[in-house]
Amino acid sequence: MMNDKDKVDKKKIPKHVAVIMDGNGRWAKKKGNKRIYGHKNGVKAVRETVEAAGEMGVKYLTLYAFSTENWKRPKTEVDALMSLFISAVKNETSNLMKNNVRLKAVGDMSLLPPKVLENLNVIIDKTSQNTGLTLVLALSYSARNEITYAVKKIAEKVMKSQLSINDIDEDTISKQLYTHDLPDPELLIRTGGEIRISNFLLWQLSYTELYFTEVLWPDFSKKDFFNAITNFRQRERRFGKISEQISNEF
Ligand code: FPP
Repeated sequence: MMNDKDKVDKKKIPKHVAVIMDGNGRWAKKKGNKRIYGHKNGVKAVRETVEAAGEMGVKYLTLYAFSTENWKRPKTEVDALMSLFISAVKNETSNLMKNNVRLKAVGDMSLLPPKVLENLNVIIDKTSQNTGLTLVLALSYSARNEITYAVKKIAEKVMKSQLSINDIDEDTISKQLYTHDLPDPELLIRTGGEIRISNFLLWQLSYTELYFTEVLWPDFSKKDFFNAITNFRQRERRFGKISEQISNEF
């Protein structure tokens, strides 16, 4: 009789892991500090997660850093987060180069302050030839905004007779998303104890395994990432088929 441990395939590492980094504010509050203190400490957890993903052979890591809804937070917090993004990408450049990490960004970049965009583009350019982990920052991102934008682009193609309605399929839509050059995530991790998706990658998460942890983002460590991967490896992904049909697929 096989036990759960025997079922774990050592090679079954997710190619793409997406993360909702939640709990920075509560972490800071618990320590009697301002919310931004939590965000600042969240940078360390980002570094740990990037290193852990690289070490495990994950190819794509997408981090939900700022949602379109986050623009509605008090201006002081938004400004502090924007400054933090600038300093974090600047300070981490040498680390990303050393670890062969390629940086990308997805979201409505037109809403970002020019200074953030400039700094981001410099490092995206600098790391573009790296061949290890691809780190994708979801910045000013929301899935409904992404899908709306894709629908507009498809409608425009139809209007210009570049595309026939009968030729629109799932692939047509995937190709118009911000994530058009990324595979769908196999695993989503959300920290901070909330059990929801919060407008993140709604199209791409159709078959993704979901993993929720109470750990607040600034406390999230390499070990927590390994735990999430181990949990994923013990699951059976059926994609609507039955167990016997998929048993030899991995
Ligand atoms: C959610 O916690 C976190 C954010 C909105 C910001 C995430 C930013 C970082 C981790 C900083 C560094 C990031 C990069 C990519 C360099 P919350 O504020 O919603 O926490 P709460 O639910 O406890 O209020």
